[in-house]
Amino acid sequence: MPTDHLVITLDGPAGAGKSTVAKSLAGRLGITYLDTGAMYRALTLKALRLKMDLSDEEALTTLCRNTKITFKEMPDGSLSILLDGEDVSTAIRAPEVTNNTFYIAKTPGVRTLMVAWQRAMGQDRSIVTDGRDQGTVVFTDARYKFYVDCDVEERVQRRFKELVAAGKPVNLDQLRADMKDRDQKDFTRAVGPLKKAPDAITVDSTGLTVEGTVDKIMKLIHL
Ligand code: C5P
Repeated sequence: MPTDHLVITLDGPAGAGKSTVAKSLAGRLGITYLDTGAMYRALTLKALRLKMDLSDEEALTTLCRNTKITFKEMPDGSLSILLDGEDVSTAIRAPEVTNNTFYIAKTPGVRTLMVAWQRAMGQDRSIVTDGRDQGTVVFTDARYKFYVDCDVEERVQRRFKELVAAGKPVNLDQLRADMKDRDQKDFTRAVGPLKKAPDAITVDSTGLTVEGTVDKIMKLIHL
C-alpha cells in the first residue's frame, strides 16, 4: 500500500558506498536513516559470541526471534545500533562478522523477521534505507528506489583504505577475494537476493565521491 511519507531505498553490492551515501542523503533531507546491513551483522555477532552452529537455520531463527535490535541517535547525530541494549556499532564491523553474515542473511526465517522489523521502522516515518532487498522485497511501494552500483576494483580499494585508516591489518588480495565471494553470495541466495528492482534508478558511483553521489541522487528526487 503506498504511504504518504517518504521512503527512499538504496540497494547495491558491498562497498559501493551505500551506507555513507544513505546517511548523508537522510541528513540532507532531515529524515531517518535505516542501516539494514547493520541488523544482519548484529545478529551474526550474537550467534558468533554464542558459538552457534551457523548452518542451523532453525536455531538462528529462534535466536533472531529472541533478539532485540534497535537504533539510537547519539548526541553527535550519528546512529548507534543496540543488540539487546548493548551498543555494538564498532563490533559489527569486524572482518569475522563481515565474513559470516552470509549464514544469517540466507536463513529464510531470519529474513522474514528482519523484513517485518524494517517495515515497522518505515511505517510511520520518512526514511532512507539501505541494503540488498529494500526496493525488491521490503519497501516495494517506496517513492524512490535507487540501485547504487560501483566497479568492483574501486569497491575493493575503498574498503582497503577504510580498513587501513581504521588501523586494521588487511591483505589486498584477500580483501578482493572476500568482496567477490560476498557479491556472489548476495546475488545468488534463494531469499532476498541482491537485484535491481525493475522500477529502480541505477546510480553508478564509480569515480564519484560520497557527496558527488548524493548530489546525483538529490537531482533525481522531487519533493
Ligand atoms: O551492507 P552491509 O555490508 O553492512 O551488509 C552486511 C551483509 O548483510 C551483506 O553482505 C548482506 O549479505 C547482508 N544484507 C542482507 N540484506 C540487507 C542488508 C544486508 O542480506 N537488506
